[in-house]
Amino acid sequence: MSKAIISPSVLASDLSNLAEECKRMMTAGCDWLHMDVMDGHFVPNITMGAPILSAVRDNVPGIYMDCHMMVSEPLKWVPEIAEAGGKSYTFHFESTSEHQKVIDLIHEHKMSAGLAISPETPSSSITESLGNSADLLLVMTVRPGRGGQKFMPECLEKVMDLRKRFPGKNIQVDGGVGSGNACQCAQAGSNVLVAGTAVFGSKDPKATIGELRGAVEK
Ligand code: DX5
Ligand code: ZN
Repeated sequence: MSKAIISPSVLASDLSNLAEECKRMMTAGCDWLHMDVMDGHFVPNITMGAPILSAVRDNVPGIYMDCHMMVSEPLKWVPEIAEAGGKSYTFHFESTSEHQKVIDLIHEHKMSAGLAISPETPSSSITESLGNSADLLLVMTVRPGRGGQKFMPECLEKVMDLRKRFPGKNIQVDGGVGSGNACQCAQAGSNVLVAGTAVFGSKDPKATIGELRGAVEK
């Protein structure tokens, strides 16, 4: 079984106080912080980019920024995100036809490469060679674009397929994940859980992170 990794999505944090919010989650025991970068093209919203990420990096020692790039030109942003301190760079299958080229550029910039699929994209789109060259595969369990949406359990079939085909990879789920469905996600084969509302909205984030971790580790 791959290691449990809990990655709270900062979209659900108090964005006026982003660095402190990241520290609060690290103190509560999270592994990564999930940074949702949206460009207003691939998805309708605009969130944050490299300048904000580098400010967070400078103010939060030891942070692992798990960058979820909901952008139309994933190739273009690789150098800037690496420079800003991104540790992993996950781009969408739907956003480009040059998947291998993007993965190679991410690796050249010493980041982990993630490949994401939106709910309408089948897991078979991730070929053996793409899946094997990526470090992480992200199965979206909501339509990308905003936090606080309802979890789509039908996406878990894709997690099962990917876990079978890529036993050693990090498989991430993102969207509507919380204590109520973490076991389902883990049973399907996901070991990296992203949770925004569930963790930042919790009265006791440490307990919630512990529950999410427990679901993967049990
Ligand atoms: C959606 C984002 C998610 C989202 C998760 O486009 O990729 O990371 O912020 O937030 P919750 O857990 O609230 O659905
Ligand atoms: Zn995300």
